[in-house]
Amino acid sequence: MINIAIDGPSGAGKSTIAKIVAKKLGITYLDTGAMYRAVALYVVNKGKDPSIEEDVAPLLSEINISYIKKDDDNLICLNGCDVSEEIRRHEMSKYASQVSKIPAVRLFLVDMQRNIASNTDVVLDGRDITSYVLPDAKHKFYLTADAEERAKRRCKELAEKGQEMPYEQVLQDIKDRDFNDMNRSFAPLIKTADSIEIDSTHMTLQEVADVILNNVEIKNPQENYEEKSLAQIKDVNAAVSKQIKQRTKQNKPNIFYRGLANFVRWAMGAVWTTRIYFADRFPKNSKAIVICNHYSALDPCVIMSKVLGKNGKVLMKYEVMKNKFVGKVATAIGAIPVKRGEADVNAVKSILGALGKNQPVLIFPEGTRNKSGNKELLPFKSGVATFAIKSKSPIVPMLYYKKTGIFKRNKIIVGTPFWLDKFYGQKVGDVKEEATDYIFEKMQELRAELDILVEKCHGSKKKYLKYKKNQSMELCANVGESRKK
Ligand code: DC
Repeated sequence: MINIAIDGPSGAGKSTIAKIVAKKLGITYLDTGAMYRAVALYVVNKGKDPSIEEDVAPLLSEINISYIKKDDDNLICLNGCDVSEEIRRHEMSKYASQVSKIPAVRLFLVDMQRNIASNTDVVLDGRDITSYVLPDAKHKFYLTADAEERAKRRCKELAEKGQEMPYEQVLQDIKDRDFNDMNRSFAPLIKTADSIEIDSTHMTLQEVADVILNNVEIKNPQENYEEKSLAQIKDVNAAVSKQIKQRTKQNKPNIFYRGLANFVRWAMGAVWTTRIYFADRFPKNSKAIVICNHYSALDPCVIMSKVLGKNGKVLMKYEVMKNKFVGKVATAIGAIPVKRGEADVNAVKSILGALGKNQPVLIFPEGTRNKSGNKELLPFKSGVATFAIKSKSPIVPMLYYKKTGIFKRNKIIVGTPFWLDKFYGQKVGDVKEEATDYIFEKMQELRAELDILVEKCHGSKKKYLKYKKNQSMELCANVGESRKK
């Protein structure tokens, strides 16, 4: 394997040089700084403080980093989303430097980087590649430049992206990051004795790249470098996904139960046929507490397969899941066992845990099936309010029109998500009743919407939207009339 390790302070041009070198040699470029940035972005998006270890460490198991080849570039993906642009925002530099001080973050990413380097010909740039990640790499470089020159280059780069910043501030930020990166206790930025130092202050990019390329070619004269970067990026992703698989293997049901779960989901949906209105109101890739009225034991499967998706979770009676086989299939479907009539600490942990991992959780607030089958809602239990306030999750209300039978098409409407933010910061025990009334009211509003949709508009979404439009025009006309008077 060819591993070329380049370290150096921020703004020394490492990534541009590394890209030129990788392209010339037809090997992969791995920007390890981007990995720290991706972790920082995830942490900040979660509303956590990137400088606090207790905030950051528990989130690491939720982070997957992968790469997609695009033209000459590798896009970096965080949990499947391309974040290549976002991680370059100016403030992300500071946050990345903060998370990079946390040993758990370094161990997590270093493991990934070593995995990649052991399977792939790669140029890696960063702060600790020569000293800690790959101390035995054959090719090691320390790329630096005066702080003032680096600040000038950074300002130009930001300006090109339309993010103008005052030079003085950029210079100060660079000095702060140098200090952070060189003085952290774990794997700080250093120039190792066996690295070749290149001061790029007065050099062009090509001159710097040539120093590296000449050096690599002297040490690897027999290498035949051809275009193989697409295959290489696949290797990188394979190495990363191997690591992720190992991480998640312990708690994932095996393939048999997952297959069976898919079948059960599909079969139940086929029997308990349902038309879903406004499924697009459901927030994707977000935590959410989904609530619905409950008529049939098949409801969870229908809602899980048609709205929540494979990521979703649903509460299920512990007694049902006690049987080993049923328990495994139900777990594969996404069920969380709940012991009713007692404070089930494990269930609470699983629910809050799932929400923390951005998974939607389905809860039937009536607590039991409505056997009468009429449209009246049964009184709500206070669990939904408690979880929604504790986890600050949106609530997505859903409603069945009324009870039907199997193979008789039922109707479900998805309502607009809402938050219980007016109760945040208060003691849950003091407000859960009031919050539950509020949730109940929201369901009643949705009931009114569904009744109009089914009864006035005969179940046609098109007619319903037209009806709503006319209604708001009428409202405007009435307001106009009363103003004239
Ligand atoms: O190279 P960059 O500016 O994108 O890196 C962002 C931050 O990540 C930087 O402040 C230092 C940190 N980092 C690190 O500690 N170790 C690496 N191998 C790469 C980056």
